[in-house]
Amino acid sequence: MNIILLGPPGAGKGTQAQRLVEKHGMRQLSTGDMLRAAVKAETAIGLEAKAVMERGELVSDAIVSALIGEELDAMGPDTGAIFDGYPRTAAQAEALDEILAARGRKLDHVIELEVDEDALVERITGRFTCAACGKGYHDKFEQPKIPGTCDKCGGTEFKRRPDDNAETVRTRLAEYRAKTAPILPIYDARGIVSKIDGMADMDEVTGAIEAILNS
Ligand code: AP5
Ligand code: MG
Repeated sequence: MNIILLGPPGAGKGTQAQRLVEKHGMRQLSTGDMLRAAVKAETAIGLEAKAVMERGELVSDAIVSALIGEELDAMGPDTGAIFDGYPRTAAQAEALDEILAARGRKLDHVIELEVDEDALVERITGRFTCAACGKGYHDKFEQPKIPGTCDKCGGTEFKRRPDDNAETVRTRLAEYRAKTAPILPIYDARGIVSKIDGMADMDEVTGAIEAILNS
C-alpha cells in the first residue's frame, strides 16, 4: 500500500507515520527528515537546503523528488510507503505519479489531517525528538514516560528543530496554503482523498487512519 499523509506543519504527519511503521512495517518517506539528514551530513543538497528550511520556504521540486525516488529504490517492492511531507507542490504531485508508475506502484490513499491553525504553533514549538532514534515527543501532549529517557530506545539526549519557532512556522503555514493545499483537488478527482480530524487525540487519529487503510 502507498499512502500520502497530507496536512500543514504540526498536523501530526510524522507522529502518525511512525505509528504506521511500527504496526504495519511500512516505510516512512519524510522529505523533511531526508533533508535534515543531508544538512547534518553537509552534503551538497544539505548545503543548498539549510537556509531555505530555516526560512520555512520550500526546497526545489527536483531535489525532493530525486530523494523520494532514491528511497523507494532502496526498499523492497512489497514494502508499503507512507509519504510524509511529500508531495508539496503540483510539480511534485506530477513527479510522484511518474516515480510510482516507473516502479509498478500505485497510490491507494491520500489522508488529509484537518487541523485548527491556531493550535499548530503550540504543537510545533513544544515538539522535541530523541537524538538517537528520532521518536517524537511534546512538552505538553506526549512526554517520555520516564522524564529524560526515550520510551523507545532509552536514549537520554533530545533535540529541537531550528525551524520550530513561531516566526518560521508562519512562513511554513503560508507555503502550505499557497502551494500544498491546492494539490488536493488532483487527488479528489481520483476519489482517493479521506479527510480526518487531526485535532482529535493522537490515538483517535491513529484509529481513523487504520479504518481508512482497512476500508
Ligand atoms: P517537514 O519536516 O515535512 O515539516 P512540516 O511539513 O512543516 O511538518 P512537521 O514535521 O512540522 O509536522 P508534522 O505534521 O510531522 O507534525 P508532528 O507529527 O511532528 O519539512 C520541513 C522543511 O523541509 C520544510 O519547511 C521545507 O523547507 C523542507 N521540505 C520538506 N519536504 C519538502 C518538500 N516535499 N518540498 C519542498 N521542501 C520540503 O506533530 C507536531 C507536534 O504535535 C509533535 O510534538 C506531536 O507530539 C504533537 N502532536 C501530533 N499529533 C497530535 C495530536 N493529535 N494531539 C496533540 N498533539 C499532537
Ligand atoms: Mg514531520
